[in-house]
Amino acid sequence: MKYPISVELTQKSSIGEVDFNNLVFGRNISDHMFVADFTDGEWTDCRIVPYGPMPMSPAIMALHYGQAIFEGMKANKHHETGEPLLFRPEMHLDRINRSALRMAMQPIPAEIFMNALSSLLDIDRDWIPQSEGSALYLRPHMFAFDSTLGVKSSDTYRFVIMTSPVGPYYPKPIRLLVADKYVRAFPGGVGFAKAAGNYGATLAPAQQAKNKGFDQILWLDGLEFKYLQECGTMNIMCVIDDTVVTPNLTDTILAGITRDSLIHLMRDQGIKVEERPISIQEVIEANKSGELKEMFGTGTAAVLSNVSEISYKDEIYTLPPVEGRKIGPFIKKVLEDYKKSLQPDKFNWLVPVKNLISTETNK
Ligand SMILES: Cc1ncc(COP(=O)(O)O)c(C=O)c1O
Repeated sequence: MKYPISVELTQKSSIGEVDFNNLVFGRNISDHMFVADFTDGEWTDCRIVPYGPMPMSPAIMALHYGQAIFEGMKANKHHETGEPLLFRPEMHLDRINRSALRMAMQPIPAEIFMNALSSLLDIDRDWIPQSEGSALYLRPHMFAFDSTLGVKSSDTYRFVIMTSPVGPYYPKPIRLLVADKYVRAFPGGVGFAKAAGNYGATLAPAQQAKNKGFDQILWLDGLEFKYLQECGTMNIMCVIDDTVVTPNLTDTILAGITRDSLIHLMRDQGIKVEERPISIQEVIEANKSGELKEMFGTGTAAVLSNVSEISYKDEIYTLPPVEGRKIGPFIKKVLEDYKKSLQPDKFNWLVPVKNLISTETNK
């Protein structure tokens, strides 16, 4: 291995404190984390250590100029063998490196990313929950580590992966507020990157939406406030007649891995999918004529969340009841079964963990 990983195991596991029957998203962090540093032009010091605080200067550039990016991915257990399975890790690696490039940060070598995930999952495998709709959420992230106040791209970076057992994100169908004043992303900007600042910028509008009783914002394009983009932490799909329509990817939309997976699975099941611009007017007219059958958000955390209602310019548009829906609930189950290897891995999306580290020698 070019990048060997050292391991220091925790003296005191906190797994006993976790209520696995009532997992709240992001509340519990597993026992160990992976850390690597980019210094003097190379990635070094790959290590798995007990999860906990890490000392750092308040001058690190990530805190001031927002050079910080992340990924969100999940692992499940094989339904029979119980072996941890990563879902499409290479695609997350590609995305974090696209984010890194746009934010003038250092790419993560594939060996570090894949071996870190494998080793961490191997060690914290007991943290992978197995109840319906639950998974181990993995949070790789990288941030600028230079301590200096000048605005420039950092010369040093820290890459960390922590993991967290999670249950279903939205227990019930969601209500969306269509943004007609705020914008999430602009052409030429960083909307396609999973950059921390993209999320910070949406918190105030999201809070306002929440105060009005909505779960998320449905973002429109920033030029005309006309075309659907995505919603909060999910991509968006509409079922019009028998066709699933989802916005085509541009530099203002995060290329969701769940979006891509569902498109593959739906087409595989003979469901028609169109990736094209879709205007809010088209959605409203389809709702009025009864052609809008379903709408759902797709994302790693939320998997597939049915939309029950959208609000646009103070009008509420109610969608058909979730109980009668044919595509969303069906394809969600197909995807969830796929992740647990309940059906053949037709697309080669599942990556079993490799036993890279002898934990015995490191105890
Ligand atoms: C802004 C945004 N859009 C879409 C998604 C869905 O992407 P994925 O399916 O890769 O989780 C996410 C979540 O990562 C997100 O944060």
